[in-house]
Amino acid sequence: MRLFIAIAPPAAVLGELEAVAAPLRPGRPDLRWTRHDAWHITLAFLGQVDDVAAGRLAPRLERAARRHSSFSLSFSGAGAFPSGARARVLWIGLRGDIRALASLAESVSAGARRAGAPPPDEGRQFRPHLTLARCRAPADVSPLVTALTGFTGAPWTAEEIHLIRSYPGPRPAYETFGRWTLGPQRPAGAEPRSVDQGDKH
Ligand code: 2AM
Repeated sequence: MRLFIAIAPPAAVLGELEAVAAPLRPGRPDLRWTRHDAWHITLAFLGQVDDVAAGRLAPRLERAARRHSSFSLSFSGAGAFPSGARARVLWIGLRGDIRALASLAESVSAGARRAGAPPPDEGRQFRPHLTLARCRAPADVSPLVTALTGFTGAPWTAEEIHLIRSYPGPRPAYETFGRWTLGPQRPAGAEPRSVDQGDKH
């Protein structure tokens, strides 16, 4: 199965972002805009993971989550990978405790590696972002970057990590397999639970 580990920002914060993104979509039907209900910040993309390694992920991710406290973030700024003029991905940036976010990303990647599911791009620089749109072919998204670059959303607290299964396709669908609260204090009896995040197809 195809898995990744991510942070799901609160709905109110995503609502702010949607208000900024919505007016831009009609002008760029050439882009594949991501769905508001599936927005997330990827900590580690694992790619295809076999059942044995997938079964070993939960305790590793629980341990990683326990070692980090919750921290503050806000969405701010925008950019494109690899460049605005020939973009593959249009993204919204983050500010706040980026060091805590990067350190959490490192821990979950290490946990995944120990579980037998090493992230294929582990070791590459972690560039925190939320993908707003993907380009079918390299496209000039500079006007969109300019329109979004002044955006700064309300601060929010990252409190948990999610292990998400991805069903790729023209409309990728995501299913949360497990979620773990950051920090040593966990609610009594809390077990990873499965929550649908998007439509399966
Ligand atoms: P993105 O947000 O930058 O597109 C599920 O595919 C998530 O994993 C996406 O959010 C995606 O990042 C991220 N991801 C990171 N590396 C990936 C890769 N090589 N292939 C697919 N998704 C990847």
